[in-house]
Amino acid sequence: MAKIFITRPIPEAGSKMLRDKGYEVVVNEAARERAAAQEEMLAGIVGSDVLLSVLTDKITAEIMDAGLPTLKIIANYAVGFDNVDIEAAKQRGIMVTNTPGVLTDTVAEHTFALILAIAHRIAEADRFSRAGKYHAWGPELLLGSDVSGKTLGVLGLGRIGSRVAYHAAKGFGMKVLYYDPKQNPDFEKEYGAVYVANIDDLLPQCDFVSIHVPLLDSTRHLFNEERFKKMKPSAYLINTSRGPIIDEKALALSLSKGLIRGAAIDVFENEPDITPELKELDNIIMTPHIASATQETRDKMAELAATNIIEALEGRTPPNLVK
Ligand code: GLV
Ligand code: GLV
Repeated sequence: MAKIFITRPIPEAGSKMLRDKGYEVVVNEAARERAAAQEEMLAGIVGSDVLLSVLTDKITAEIMDAGLPTLKIIANYAVGFDNVDIEAAKQRGIMVTNTPGVLTDTVAEHTFALILAIAHRIAEADRFSRAGKYHAWGPELLLGSDVSGKTLGVLGLGRIGSRVAYHAAKGFGMKVLYYDPKQNPDFEKEYGAVYVANIDDLLPQCDFVSIHVPLLDSTRHLFNEERFKKMKPSAYLINTSRGPIIDEKALALSLSKGLIRGAAIDVFENEPDITPELKELDNIIMTPHIASATQETRDKMAELAATNIIEALEGRTPPNLVK
C-alpha cells in the first residue's frame, strides 16, 4: 500500500480521494497554523512513496534523500514550485507536480482586488474610518486614482497574467501592455494588447504594473531601485507572484520617497516576515499570501494534487508534471 506524507493539513477533498484509493495517508497535523519543521519532514518522509508539500516547505536534496528509496513523487500544493529543488528531484528520478489552472481565476480576482483597493485607498480609508477621523465629507478627502482607461503593464503572460489582462481590458477598458519571453499575437488581437520586448521600456508607460512571473534566478530582485526609478511617480506596483522578485527595502524606500505612488502585494521577500518599514507606510496594501485562498479553489487544488498522485501511482503520467 502506497504511503503518502502530507506536510500540512490540506482541505479534506484531497486527502479523502487518497484515502478512498486505500493509500495510507499521514498528515502532519501539528503544522496546521505554522510551517512544517525540517525534522517533521525528515521523519515523515521515511518510507513514503509520496510527499505532498506546500509552499512553506523547502524541499531540498536532503529531504528527498531521507525519502529514498521509496519516494517517487513530490506533489506540490501550489502553482509555483520554487520551494522544490527541481534539479535534485530530476537527478533522483522523483516526479514533481504542481496545481496550475484551478487557481487562475481566484488569483486574478485577488490581483484585481488589490488594484482597485490601492487605487481607491480602501484599506487606508477603512483605517481612517475606524480611527474616528471621519468628521465631515470633503471634496478632497482621501483622493485616489481611477483604474478605468489607464494603462496596465502585465509582466508575465501565463495563465494568471492573461486573466488579469482580460479583466483589465474587458472590464475596465484599460490599455494593456505586456512583457513575456514569448510574444502572443492572438492575445494581442483579443485584448488590443501591445507587446513590449523590454521591461525597462514597458515601465515608464504604465499606470499599474502587475507581476506574474515565476521566481527564478533571473527574476530575483527584478524590481530594484533602478526599476522603480523607471516607473511613473503616479504608478502602482502589484505583486501576487513571489516576494523575492521585489527588493523589499528598495520598495519601502521608493514608496516613502514617492518614486511610485503605491503598491499592493500578497507575497513577501522573507515570508512570513515583512520588512518593518513597509508596515509604517500608508501607500501600500499587504495581504498574507492569500491570493488563491478561497474555499472553492483550495478544495480544487487539493483534488488536483490528489489526482496527480493517483495518476502517478497508477503508472500514468500525472497531468501536471513539472518538466
Ligand atoms: C501560491 O502562491 C501558489 O503558487 O499556488
Ligand atoms: C500560473 O498558473 C500562470 O501560468 O500564471
